[in-house]
Amino acid sequence: MITNKQFQKIYAESIQDPEKFWANVAETTIEWFQKWDKVLNWEFPNYQWFVGGKLNATYNCLDRHVKAGLGEKTALIYLNENNERTTIDYQNLSKQVNKFSNGLKSLGVKKGDRVLIYMPLVIEQIIAMLACARIGAIHSVVFAGFSANALRERAESLKAKIVITATWTLRRGKKKLLKPVAEEAIKDLEFVEKLIVLNRDKNETSFINEREIDFYDLLNPQSEICEGEVMDSGDPLFILYTSGSTGKPKGIVHNTGGFLVYAQYTLENAFNIMSDDIYWCTADPGWITGHSYVTYGPLAKGLTVLIVEGVPDYPKPDNWYKIIEQEKVNIFYTSPTALRMLKKYGEEYCKQHDLSSLRILGTVGEPINPEVWKWYYEFIGNKKCPIADTWWQTETGGHMIMTLPGLEEKPGVAGLPFYGIDVAIINQAGEEMPVNEKGFLVIKKPWPGALSDCWNNSDRFIQYWSEIGKVFFTGDFAIKDADGYIQILGRSDDVINISGHRIGTAEVENLLVSFNGIVEAAVISKPDELKGERLKAFVVLKSNIKGDNVLKLDIQKYIKTKIASFAVPEEIEFISSLPKTRSGKIMRRILKAKELGQDVGDLTTLED
Ligand code: WTA
Repeated sequence: MITNKQFQKIYAESIQDPEKFWANVAETTIEWFQKWDKVLNWEFPNYQWFVGGKLNATYNCLDRHVKAGLGEKTALIYLNENNERTTIDYQNLSKQVNKFSNGLKSLGVKKGDRVLIYMPLVIEQIIAMLACARIGAIHSVVFAGFSANALRERAESLKAKIVITATWTLRRGKKKLLKPVAEEAIKDLEFVEKLIVLNRDKNETSFINEREIDFYDLLNPQSEICEGEVMDSGDPLFILYTSGSTGKPKGIVHNTGGFLVYAQYTLENAFNIMSDDIYWCTADPGWITGHSYVTYGPLAKGLTVLIVEGVPDYPKPDNWYKIIEQEKVNIFYTSPTALRMLKKYGEEYCKQHDLSSLRILGTVGEPINPEVWKWYYEFIGNKKCPIADTWWQTETGGHMIMTLPGLEEKPGVAGLPFYGIDVAIINQAGEEMPVNEKGFLVIKKPWPGALSDCWNNSDRFIQYWSEIGKVFFTGDFAIKDADGYIQILGRSDDVINISGHRIGTAEVENLLVSFNGIVEAAVISKPDELKGERLKAFVVLKSNIKGDNVLKLDIQKYIKTKIASFAVPEEIEFISSLPKTRSGKIMRRILKAKELGQDVGDLTTLED
């Protein structure tokens, strides 16, 4: 645990000479094949960390632990709803990754090729990610809740050579089929050369054509030896799509060197990691948290990582507590949405289990309400575990603002900027806001975990660094208190956070207007007790179409099949026209204020 004095000293040094600071971190966290020539090359708006450095991410996540004699240490523990439990140690994980890497190579996959992974949270998902990293292919994981349409869009954008899926995933006692979704997504996409399918049943999978191949038929015959590709620090490790304020999700690109250094170092600090920790982050690799803090960070650190395919409250509301007790979890990292759900069931369920193994708790994804924070502290942490509230984004690669264990905790307030992270809260003119006044949260300089590009859309990348001045625009509102603690107040753009899942209102609106019979649409968010926020759509129909409940259900189903169920507006209201400015821009602000019973504010620009 760190004291405030120690923290302030390291922070001051890191800001004074960030390059020296990060060079030291990079040297101590990662094993490089070749050391870098230059710590940072920054020619606005482009930057690269550890220029000339050579490494392989999986060498750091696997080989170096095996070489250090930790081959028999458990790397992953997998659990599911049916009480199935599988473990794999570092040595065997390494062998499986090598075999699958050789399998991918045998299919002609080369450095720089894109591989789409559409799988549930199983050990094979992690093997697939690491195998790509081993041979230098760029993986892009798509959350298994996304629709065929969303998957297809990503496959097209990436020109993915390979898609990897599984027959199904388990959700609340039901099998949710994935293979048919993947098949539909890649139908007629000729650039997809193979669909690799993890068959989760004993009996044979039916393959619909020769493009499909079984995961283990590919893996089993291969050699256990596969030399990791020597990657440049600046070579992409993965691409992850995320929603923004524009109509289409963007592919955030993360580079190998900077990302790996940053993910491991932030993990170590945020959770005060000890080498024997049993570590459980409840995220899915379909999201950035699953990349940085389920896969790369903890494996680079050589931890025993628990992965659970399932939800918090199935089969019973005490499911997660049961797992913490059974596996003696030391570090538990989850989202406010999950905590709100657990709190609603009540603390009786926590009390049925021995949670005393827990040492550090964490939270990510949304602002945590102070009541939920206190409940987490009291009933899950038994008033003895620090809570690391961690603010960060897909774009930032790792934690940026957090409360490190040992520092003063302020429930609901994310905390202090991490080492080397130079933040400011500014207004539209770029001026810094006084203490306790709301403004845009920006980062003044590049850090090692920062995105390196947007796939096929460098203009969008540049936009991050030029929205207001030459700083990284996070899209969040925040305030800073007299101690320098930063409280996140939610998004300043049209991005909505539903149960910790990002979705752009523009993305949903674009789809609504593509629905037959809808002329115009506007989407707003409303506060939601469990999910944080939920969507409401205002829809203008063609004059000959009647807005009724059947139509509402059809529209909802349409959004679900085009994106995913979390993006479906729970409420749809049919109206005759939308409020607009004289230049024709929809004034969502007015819709929202009216909906929430607030003052609608200045209406001078309103057309009608
Ligand atoms: C929000 C998730 C408050 C924020 C890692 C950010 C948070 C967006 C916190 C990024 C937190 C994330 N407190 N808000 N601790 N963590 N957010 O890209 O609005 O899925 O911009 O990354 O989540 O979401 P993303």
